Amino acid sequence: MVALPIRLEARALGPTHLRAFPIAYGCWRFAGSSVREAREKIELSLAVGINLFDHADIYGGDGAAEDLFGRVLAESPGLRHRMLLATKGGIVQGVPYDSSPAHLAAACEGSLKRLRTDVIDVYQIHRPDLLVHPQELAATLVRLRRDGKIREVGVSNFTRWQFEALQRYLPFPIAVHQPEFSPLCLGPLRDGVLDQCLEHDVTPLAWSPLARGRLGLSLEAARREPDGRRLADVVENLDILAEREGVSRTAVVLAWILVHPSRPIPILGTQRLERIRESADAFKVHLTRRDWYAVLEAAQGEKLP
Ligand SMILES: NC(=O)c1ccc[n+]([C@@H]2O[C@H](COP(=O)([O-])OP(=O)(O)OC[C@H]3O[C@@H](n4cnc5c(N)ncnc54)[C@H](OP(=O)(O)O)[C@@H]3O)[C@@H](O)[C@H]2O)c1
Repeated sequence: MVALPIRLEARALGPTHLRAFPIAYGCWRFAGSSVREAREKIELSLAVGINLFDHADIYGGDGAAEDLFGRVLAESPGLRHRMLLATKGGIVQGVPYDSSPAHLAAACEGSLKRLRTDVIDVYQIHRPDLLVHPQELAATLVRLRRDGKIREVGVSNFTRWQFEALQRYLPFPIAVHQPEFSPLCLGPLRDGVLDQCLEHDVTPLAWSPLARGRLGLSLEAARREPDGRRLADVVENLDILAEREGVSRTAVVLAWILVHPSRPIPILGTQRLERIRESADAFKVHLTRRDWYAVLEAAQGEKLP
């Protein structure tokens, strides 16, 4: 059976001029190390080819992840032009969402300051604020872009209808849509988000591709999880493929995401250098249709009709 194609070359982020490697590095767990360790992760990611770094103002609490990243950039300003910086605003602890014009303007300013940069390449709304009219949100994003604070915009955890409503009022295309997507989070395959990305040529960014590490569990540990039977089935399927392809299970998971025709960019969350390095093995994996559907069937716990 023919292997499904995985393209290694950088791709445009949505219908924009920004180009990103097919794997991104996420900074949710990035805070809490020394500047030297932070630099090692950034430099290794760049060496692997990764050029898109995903942040949020809340990562690490009080912007600590952006701040640490910004310290590396301050020490080595030359790194900045080799990367695309994406961040997010709109979550406020205890509220929980605020995408009002005043809040987003302040949040964006805070991210710029912490990241020690004068422009954010992709500014994403972290979660939909149900109390903001899409016309008002669009006007805020237009202002931030007009003022040179951000280059492109994205949304995260939006439904396809929330995306459509925002896009209707924006005079430029949304570049990225960031849902959770992995073999353990299949929602975007069926809720229309990936279809919408295909329709509008928007780039999906897949958050928590390893299901926050659950897909890294040993078979024994997987069996002990509350949904142990399903998880163990998925893990067993992935391990058979990993052994056949001579790569790690993580590489197979990344490949499983990468082969979807909407060309999702999985956002790595590991803090370990060896795992950043090994992520590139995803491009060595040859998955057939049968392989891909076998993982899907194990993940959903039932055969497809
Ligand atoms: N938009 C949103 O609402 C949203 C929400 C969550 C995340 N995100 C984005 O997605 C990024 C990734 O999320 P995530 O950290 O949950 O990603 P993930 O890749 O699903 O999980 C990474 C975690 O799994 C652990 N892990 C265990 N075994 C692993 C293995 N074999 N291979 C790789 N990792 C393994 C890692 O530990 P080690 O460090 O020890 O490897 C790390 O703690 C975030 O940084 C953020 O940018 C976005």
